[in-house]
Amino acid sequence: MSSVEKIKSNRYIQNIESWRWMTSLVLKGAAQTLATVGGGSKASRPSHVPENLAVDFNFTAIDCSETDIHAGWRKLFDKPDIFWTPQNGGHWVVTRAEYISTVMKTPDVFSSDEIILPKGAKPIRLLPLEAKPSEHGPYRAIIAKRVTPKAVTEMRDGVRALTIEMIESFRAKGECEFVEDFAKRLPIAVFLQLVDLPHDDREKLLEWTEVAVRSKSSLQLMMAFLHVINYLEYWIRERRAKPGDDLISDIVNAKIDGKPLSHDEIQGMLTTVLFGGLDTVAAILGFMAKFLAENPEHRQQLIANPKLIPKAIDEILRLHGIVNLSRSVAQDTELGGVFLKKGDMIQVPNSMFGVDDRATDEPLKVDFTRPNIAASHAAFGLGIHRCVGSTLARMELTMFLEEWLTRIPDFAIAPGKKATTVAGQVNGIVQLPLRWPVS
Ligand code: HEM
Repeated sequence: MSSVEKIKSNRYIQNIESWRWMTSLVLKGAAQTLATVGGGSKASRPSHVPENLAVDFNFTAIDCSETDIHAGWRKLFDKPDIFWTPQNGGHWVVTRAEYISTVMKTPDVFSSDEIILPKGAKPIRLLPLEAKPSEHGPYRAIIAKRVTPKAVTEMRDGVRALTIEMIESFRAKGECEFVEDFAKRLPIAVFLQLVDLPHDDREKLLEWTEVAVRSKSSLQLMMAFLHVINYLEYWIRERRAKPGDDLISDIVNAKIDGKPLSHDEIQGMLTTVLFGGLDTVAAILGFMAKFLAENPEHRQQLIANPKLIPKAIDEILRLHGIVNLSRSVAQDTELGGVFLKKGDMIQVPNSMFGVDDRATDEPLKVDFTRPNIAASHAAFGLGIHRCVGSTLARMELTMFLEEWLTRIPDFAIAPGKKATTVAGQVNGIVQLPLRWPVS
C-alpha cells in the first residue's frame, strides 16, 4: 500500500479541519507553557510571599518517587502547613487536611478555572472540572446520568467478564507485568464500553494516552494529544450524524439552556472523561496490587472475608491518594494565617489528606475495619467537583479484587525486581512485575 493510500485508509487523520483546530490548540498551549515557566526556569518569589514560607519543591521530582511516591509526599509534613515553591511557574502547596478541605469546598475563593500546573499550560478547558460554580451543574449532569449507581450496576457483568478474560490470559504463566498487562487495560476497555467505541481501538488509545500523560518530551506529548483529540473528533462527527446510546452521543447532542454545546465544550468534556477515568483507575489498581503483593496478611483477610472488599478499597485509597490538582486564588484572601493574592496558584494534594495525623488516628496503620473509612480520605475530591465517576471506579476496583484474589490468591513482587512509581499531578505506577506459583 502506498503512503498516500495508507493515509487515506486511516479514518482518523482524514479530517483536515480537525487537524487545523487541534494544531492551533497545541501551539497555544506550547506558547502558554513557555510564557508561564520560562522554559523550565524557577519563578521569582513574589513580594507577598514571606521568605520563611518559600520551599524549593518540585512535584514532578519527589524524593522516593522511584519506589514509594507516597512516602515522598509524606515528607512534606515537615514543611510549613502552607508553603510556596518557585517550581512549575511558582505556586502554593497545602499539606494539611483541614486546609485542603477549605480550599476544595470554597470554589468562589479558590477557583477551578485553572487546575493544572503550570498555570495556563493546557490548551483546552476541561469540563466540568474547570467550570465556574454557577455553570457547573448542567455539564456535570450530562456525564452523571451515564454513571449512576443503576447504570454502573448494568455494566458490572460486562466488566467482570473483561476482568476474568484479562486475568486468564496470563494466569497460567505464573507472572505478569501488572501495569502493562492489566492496570492500563481494564479502564480503557471500560471507557470504550461507556462511549461505545470499537474494542480494536484499545491498543492505539493506550499508546496515545500513556504518552500524553507521562512523556517528558513536549513533541511526543503534543503528537499524542493531537492523536487523541483527532480520534475523538472523528467520533464526534459520527455520533452527531448517527446518535447512539452512549456518552459521546449524549455530550455531542446535549443542550444547555436550549443551546447545543460548542466544539470546545464537547472536546473539553470528552477529554476529561478519557483522562479522568483512565490514568486514575490504572494508578490505584497498581498501588492496590503492590500493597497486597507486599502485605500477605491483608490479602488473606480479604480472601477469608470478601465482604471487607468495599472497606479495603477505601482504606487503600486513603493511604494512596492519586490526584494532586490545584486551584487559582480568585480574590485576595487568608488561609491558616497566610496571605494569598488573587491569581496565585495553590496545589491541594489528595496524597496528603488521608495520611494527616491531625485528621486521622494512626494514619499509616492499614485497618480494613476502621470506622468511617470513606469519610477519612479525599481521593475522589471534595466539594462540587467531587469525582462523578467514583461509583464506576469503585466497581472496577471491586471486580479486580474479587476476581484476582479468587484466581491468583498468592502473589508477590517478582524476586530481584521492583515496582516503579512516578510523581506528578496524578501519582502513577509504571512497573509492577508480579509472580505467583503455578501447578
Ligand atoms: C480511582 C479512580 C478515580 C480517582 C482517584 C478520581 C479522582 C477524581 C478527583 C480527585 C476529582 C476532583 C478533581 C477536582 O476537584 O479538581 C475527580 C473529578 C472527576 N472525575 Fe474522577 N477519579 C477516578 C475515576 C474516574 C472515572 C472512572 C471517571 C469516568 C467517568 C471519572 C470522571 C471524573 C469527572 C468527569 C470529574 C469532574 C467532576 C466535576 O467537575 O464535577 N473519574 N475525579
